[in-house]
Amino acid sequence: MDTCAACDIAGAGRCNGKGPCGETVPGMGGKRQSFVRNIEAFEGMSLNMRTVHTISHPKTEIELLGVKLAMPILTGITGGLTYNMGAANKLAFDGEVMTEEKYARGIIEGAANAGCLGWAADGIGDPLETYKRRMAVVKEFKGRAVAQIKPRTQKEIFERLDIVQEAGAPFFAIDVDSAGRAARALPGKTVEPKDLKKLKEIVNYAKIPFISKGIMTVDEALMCAEAGCGAIIVSNHGGRVLSSTPATMHVLPAIVKAVRDRGYKMPILVDGGVRDGGDVLKALACGAQGYW
Ligand SMILES: Cc1cc2nc3c(=O)[nH]c(=O)nc-3n(C[C@H](O)[C@H](O)[C@H](O)COP(=O)(O)O)c2cc1C
Repeated sequence: MDTCAACDIAGAGRCNGKGPCGETVPGMGGKRQSFVRNIEAFEGMSLNMRTVHTISHPKTEIELLGVKLAMPILTGITGGLTYNMGAANKLAFDGEVMTEEKYARGIIEGAANAGCLGWAADGIGDPLETYKRRMAVVKEFKGRAVAQIKPRTQKEIFERLDIVQEAGAPFFAIDVDSAGRAARALPGKTVEPKDLKKLKEIVNYAKIPFISKGIMTVDEALMCAEAGCGAIIVSNHGGRVLSSTPATMHVLPAIVKAVRDRGYKMPILVDGGVRDGGDVLKALACGAQGYW
């Protein structure tokens, strides 16, 4: 990524959190330490070469939770562009005003064209009607789009999950770490932390695999595995939940080891600071199965 619409660092290199993006991207977290750390963790790793082998046509395809992907990459789960990023005042690719549905369609269509999967998000303040419109976009893509739900009350999650399943998404994610975001803890906001019992309830209710996003510790990864989650995403929300967390790549190896040592086959995905294909290879080498 050489340019960033948020802080206009065109030509300045990768999106590294050191531009003036904190003023335009909400929730970057204090001095953006976590965001920057994610990127620096990748930059601090090297890729060595192997030059004597028989592979002339490397295969990048994987199967994730029953879905074939052309490469181990999904889009980032992003939403709220119209109210978080000022996109409501900007024109979309069709020359008309940007909407949440249009944004979701752009992401999902681009990913589908690349043989990957794109996410439609859930904005915490969004009424159910907005969510339904996003899910109508998911439905258009007939199983080639996935959906996220905020860690709302169980009842609200189940209500949204019914819509997600009706839209034909092959799996869904809940960013359980969003319950920890200060901006989410306002009166009237209904996100809450999930414990093992609640994770199990969600797994039992769902007819499709449930991915738990925002896992940064070994014990919580094991809890997700025990609950029967389809996968986890090792993520610190790009540094947007808590400033000064470790980099995702720094906690990934211990999580992979603990989960595999106990025999769980659950895919382990990672995000945060992934900026090019080399970063994807580094995450693969550390035991993850997918990245964005
Ligand atoms: C504009 C924007 C909106 C986001 N919205 C969501 C969201 O609705 N749900 C979610 O789980 N994560 C959301 N995220 C976090 C991403 O899914 C991801 O964890 C993070 O961006 C990865 O770090 P990176 O930005 O350094 O790649 C958002 C990130 C951005 C930049």
